[in-house]
Amino acid sequence: MSASTDALRRLTVADIAKRHADGLRLPMLTAYDFPTAQILDRAGIPLILVGDSLGQVMLGYESTVRVTMAEMVHHTKAVVRGTQRAMVIGDMPFLTYASMDEALDNAGRFLQEAGAQAVKVEGGVRSARIIEGLVKAGIPVMGHIGWTPQAGLAMSGTGGRPKVQGRSRDQARSMLADALAVQEAGAFSIVLELVPAQLAAAITERLRIPTIGIGAGPGCSGQVQVVTDLLGLGDFIPKHARPYAQLGATIDAAARAYAADVEAGTFPGEAETVRMDDEVLDHVLGRGAHDRASGEIPVGGIPLDRDL
Ligand code: KIV
Repeated sequence: MSASTDALRRLTVADIAKRHADGLRLPMLTAYDFPTAQILDRAGIPLILVGDSLGQVMLGYESTVRVTMAEMVHHTKAVVRGTQRAMVIGDMPFLTYASMDEALDNAGRFLQEAGAQAVKVEGGVRSARIIEGLVKAGIPVMGHIGWTPQAGLAMSGTGGRPKVQGRSRDQARSMLADALAVQEAGAFSIVLELVPAQLAAAITERLRIPTIGIGAGPGCSGQVQVVTDLLGLGDFIPKHARPYAQLGATIDAAARAYAADVEAGTFPGEAETVRMDDEVLDHVLGRGAHDRASGEIPVGGIPLDRDL
């Protein structure tokens, strides 16, 4: 394959493994729509996750639990259309992989209907059997352990609010077991969310597959951020996120300036206005030279409302 065709082909699980083996850190971002996906792809982001964070950051739900397969497929299609090179990963929503049959049906929809190249599944030991079944069926899977938002309501003491996982000895041990179970089930990578940095680094050292951290410190093989946090678009930016832009403030300023211009009559101006030949309009309205000379009621004349 030539360098130019190679530049345009989609990244595969093998490409991600190679980058990891070469010691390259992996940047991943979420995206939910066509224009954002296009920009991220052109910027060279290799992994784009259509996260079920869609529910909160794009659809205004209070949690990810309300997100449906139909919504995920709809948004994943847009992201796939906007990308040529990135690997697009569809996030399996709450209760869509409770049984093997459901998992295969729904993961299959991400690949066949939406055009994604992989799916993400939350849970460690508890999801290992499902991950294994998907991988055996030829579906690349990214795991996700630590804070798993879909299980938020069931995680004791959190009331659904995000909480760092793995600080205690028992939690840290079971997180290591979760990570190994996901790897042995055949996942090609694993998200570590809200995990103490030292534990995330220790897990990363013990795994062959790359870890992708969010709120898990710098010792992971890659990092993922929710794109609205990166862009400064939401009302609330979590402590682990770093806004690289302030699009919320930019949009606010643009909307206010636009409203002021419309109200003042300065938008549209000459630059945003199209014009026609005045003579053509005069003819249509019956006020051309011929109409004036004949003194007759113009055939083409269109009376104003007030004259009727
Ligand atoms: O849904 C999502 O955006 C995620 C990332 C935070 C990893 O799962």
